[in-house]
Amino acid sequence: MIVYKTEDELRRLRASGGIVGLVLRELRPLVKAGARTADLDAYAERRTRELGAKPAFKGYRGYPATLCVSVNEEIIHGLPSPRVLREGDVVSIDFGVLYDGFYGDAARTYAVGEVGPVARNLIRTAEASFRRGVERMVEGNRVSDISAAVQSSVEAQGFSVIRSFVGHGIGQALHEEPQVPNFGFPGRGPKIRRGLVLAIEPMIAAGDWEVEILADGWTAVTRDRSLAAHYEETVALTARGTEILSAEDGSGTTDAFWKEQPHA
Ligand code: MF3
Ligand code: CO
Repeated sequence: MIVYKTEDELRRLRASGGIVGLVLRELRPLVKAGARTADLDAYAERRTRELGAKPAFKGYRGYPATLCVSVNEEIIHGLPSPRVLREGDVVSIDFGVLYDGFYGDAARTYAVGEVGPVARNLIRTAEASFRRGVERMVEGNRVSDISAAVQSSVEAQGFSVIRSFVGHGIGQALHEEPQVPNFGFPGRGPKIRRGLVLAIEPMIAAGDWEVEILADGWTAVTRDRSLAAHYEETVALTARGTEILSAEDGSGTTDAFWKEQPHA
């Protein structure tokens, strides 16, 4: 069952998304050569709690951390560790919070220093394909219209879409219906209407789409060890159209405390 959100629920989701966007914005300058992925995680957990929120992932099915930090061929669910980031790494950071009973969830992929042209295009394509998907999140369309738009924009660059993980509805649960695959034929699945809130999250690879899970039980890597990228936002369809609730410029939030945060 899809839970369409009321205006009051959307207000609360804006606050959760605002915290996610704010902390991701603060993390951005910390993603640099020499940083340990565990340091990023510690920063995110401290800020989450300072802002009165709870890390959404920590404890979720036993997940041990606040962030997922996935480097190079790691696609998602990379575990923060003493691993040191190096020039040329491609780093995906996935982050969610629970605040006032509602979840926010978003991910970014960054280059550490200079990376090659394929890595740069892969990172750009993950975000661009997300935007092509959001353009299809309009009243009367169907969920798979989003999926098809993401897929065609990724494949137009010669990259592939990961199939074994999908985006999702989000609200009082981190994962709600509907599932939002990043591939598929248009015109299928539930109708999109006002009050729908989705975590749209293309996960893409420079090579093939097959996935392997490492021995830690979490980290998903490309089977061919090609580079991967991930981009995610919590997006609502409201009376004002699509709103990116987890935007880093705070455009999705109406929450006063967020607006008071100094720009990083
Ligand atoms: N953004 C991911 C998702 O939507 C985060 C889940 S990580 C987990 O599923 F550890 F919580 F599973
Ligand atoms: Co998600």
